[in-house]
Amino acid sequence: MTNITEAAKQYEYFKSLALSLNMERGQPADENFDLSLKLLSAIDENNYITDSGVDIRNYPGGVAGLREAREVFCEQLGVQASETMIGNNSSLELMGHFLTWALLKGVINSESGWLQQKPKLIVTVPGYDRHFSLAAELGYELLTVKMTEHGPDMDAVEALVAADASIKGIYFVPTYSNPTGDTMSQEYAKRLVAVNAAAPDFTIFADDAYAVHHLVENPTPAPNLLTLAKAAGNADRVIIFGSTSKVTFASAGISLVGMSEANIAHWSRLMSVQTIGPNKAEQWRHVCFMRQYPGGLKGLMRDHAKILKPKFDTVQSVLEEQLGNKNVARWSTPAGGYFVSVETTRPIADRVIALAAEAGVALTPAGATYPNGADPDNTNIRLSPTRPAQDEILQAMQVFACCVQLASAEYDQKNGR
Ligand SMILES: Cc1ncc(COP(=O)(O)O)c(C=O)c1O
Repeated sequence: MTNITEAAKQYEYFKSLALSLNMERGQPADENFDLSLKLLSAIDENNYITDSGVDIRNYPGGVAGLREAREVFCEQLGVQASETMIGNNSSLELMGHFLTWALLKGVINSESGWLQQKPKLIVTVPGYDRHFSLAAELGYELLTVKMTEHGPDMDAVEALVAADASIKGIYFVPTYSNPTGDTMSQEYAKRLVAVNAAAPDFTIFADDAYAVHHLVENPTPAPNLLTLAKAAGNADRVIIFGSTSKVTFASAGISLVGMSEANIAHWSRLMSVQTIGPNKAEQWRHVCFMRQYPGGLKGLMRDHAKILKPKFDTVQSVLEEQLGNKNVARWSTPAGGYFVSVETTRPIADRVIALAAEAGVALTPAGATYPNGADPDNTNIRLSPTRPAQDEILQAMQVFACCVQLASAEYDQKNGR
């Protein structure tokens, strides 16, 4: 390992550069947005009647979304058009609606709402901070299980849900998980959809935000949770969310839910008391845009990957060069998604993040990948290389690697190692 004097000297040098870099935000870059600029002219004053004759200016159009939008975007979640519901600009908002309705009414096969049953949800760690805050703020008690390279730790999930009828579901990211980049294996997916749960209305809330966000040419196909759930006789157990936030424009597109046709009918009835339907102008222009994009959704995602892959490669090469074989950290090498997850060998994540901030590199706050912002081991750090430019990533990663080495050396010195 680099000695403390050497690491401190390098750190002072980085500080003297007065950098201002940001590796905190899981946002697309402007170049990614530019791929979808034609969205802005995909419809005009001569194009407001859909193929099926819906006038996007008026109310009718369907609470589950335009037929055409369901047909075009079902591909993103790997379900049928009839199994797709469209929402407005944020999948997180839809998840909020579903989790709230579940408290009041339960889900499709519930006898009553979940609120009185003091519901618990399993979440995976490290995971997505907004899942934790949404579910916790609504009053769900969160139980954590590890996100493994095969998906949620299924031994832990099976043991928990078999024993406790107040565990109403699991809430996690099945593909290119935020932040680990892990994707569920077929075996784990099969075990999850068939899990023997004490709660008869146990529900899988799968946030498939990165379902089509591959970084590699021929990705291993992710398991299809709805197909597997049907085969296990549990078709209504699975609810899959997604959106076009990282496909077209962030928080300015459409959101998606994939679920059984029975669930579509159930949730359409509930949603219809709070909306006549999602924004049809947005749906229609997304349909027109996606139809004209070369190669459709796959073509667009390939073009995103061309922009993102070199950035992820830079992260990997600096980590390897600077930290490889030094026993200071391990990190993920994701085949898709938006993040790289670093595990420090020592309990120093907060110190690394503070050092980086002082040297002008903003990282995701310490603990953010755990409920209540508290990482029990103080080892996880989420890196977000999608938004900065390539040269900024290179510089930010060099600073980051220096901070990991300095914080590790400090820790060893303090602990007489
Ligand atoms: C796992 C995950 N789900 C949902 C979102 C937000 O999605 P939306 O913009 O559709 O609300 C994000 C954004 O970072 C995310 O990482």
